[in-house]
Amino acid sequence: MRPLRVAVLLGSTRDGPPRPANLGRRVGKFLCGVLNARGHEVDVVDPVDEALPSLVKPYFAYAPGQAPPKLEKLNERLLNADAYVAVTPEYNHAPSPALLNTINHIGSSVMSYKPSLICSYSAGQWGGARAAVLLRPALSEMGCIPVSAMIHVPKAAEVFDEAGKCLEDHDEWAGYFDRGVSQLEWWGVAARNHKDVVDPFAASPALTTTPTQRNAPTSP
Ligand SMILES: Cc1cc2nc3c(=O)[nH]c(=O)nc-3n(C[C@H](O)[C@H](O)[C@H](O)COP(=O)(O)O)c2cc1C
Repeated sequence: MRPLRVAVLLGSTRDGPPRPANLGRRVGKFLCGVLNARGHEVDVVDPVDEALPSLVKPYFAYAPGQAPPKLEKLNERLLNADAYVAVTPEYNHAPSPALLNTINHIGSSVMSYKPSLICSYSAGQWGGARAAVLLRPALSEMGCIPVSAMIHVPKAAEVFDEAGKCLEDHDEWAGYFDRGVSQLEWWGVAARNHKDVVDPFAASPALTTTPTQRNAPTSP
């Protein structure tokens, strides 16, 4: 099997109390280890490095070649990915605004017909499960269908250190992550192979003007 190219979308830009800040990087590092152990290539999209503004203009709103170079590059990286992992903290029972901001900058045709895996975490006991559930519809709308398994990491600072090393029950955590990653792999390989058979955009073209292109015939 050819390795998948997996884009790991991180969600934290925090640098301050409550500490430790940016637990997402710890979770992301452990996750990358699990993906690498299965032979996949990983591209980590860290919103701190991307420093996207709150949405003013998504990539697809620019004329060809006119997008800011970093956004151009990000679009290309996400286009090249075969599958995605969305790593989200839970803020007020909701997914990370930075993660949604990344997704909102990218057109759905970039991420569609590829699977995603949701990985949430928190400092508390629920592991960001409420944020994870809310992320499902957003990824589905992108056509980047979330696999059924989700990963939730409660008390993430006690589970992973800054290097992403697991501090307790390594094999259990690795097995838990691997279950979700194995589903992502199955769907990712299947989707990639089938694109060679049928062009997914042939019968369901990407939007070229407005979302009203998708309206039912009876819509005003
Ligand atoms: C604005 C804000 C809202 C939070 N809301 C929740 C919450 O709803 N549920 C929860 O379990 N933890 C919540 N927390 C605690 C986070 O789980 C914890 O700060 C975690 O480290 C956030 O991830 P990050 O460090 O990667 O940003 C919240 C933290 C902040 C800063």
